[in-house]
Amino acid sequence: MSRLIAAVLLTAGLAGANLAQAAGNPAKGEEKVKQVCAACHGAHGESAGPDFPKLAGQPEDYLQTALKHYKGGVRRKNAIMMGMAAGLSDQDIADLAAYLSTQDAGLYTKY
Ligand code: HEC
Repeated sequence: MSRLIAAVLLTAGLAGANLAQAAGNPAKGEEKVKQVCAACHGAHGESAGPDFPKLAGQPEDYLQTALKHYKGGVRRKNAIMMGMAAGLSDQDIADLAAYLSTQDAGLYTKY
């Protein structure tokens, strides 16, 4: 009986964890990247120049964490990126990360 309860609690906990983490929509992320981020990071996250980090193919959770840290402004400080991240919702961040993490930097690399 206690095993059954443990299994139910575990399943409920996992379902809750899934709900807490917004699922990213890569098509929406692509639109946002092309509108806002492309000037510096390139339309595919390939980077528009040597001063801007490549985002293409970075792990999804890494991109989400980086954006949340800029947004928080404590764990990661950069004047440009704190401004960029300030207006992003958790859903925007999930969408951006879903798109950028699936891009192949090798296809577009110029730098
Ligand atoms: C005006 C130029 C500019 C724009 C526009 C811009 N960024 Fe950045 N981004 C930078 C710079 C410069 C850095 C490096 C900052 C640092 O040293 O922390 C950076 C860093 C990052 C990083 C961390 C990369 C790493 O390897 O840790 C992420 C993620 C990121 N940007 C995402 C975005 C997203 C998503 C957008 C669009 C919403 C965006 N940026 C728009 C200039 C820009």
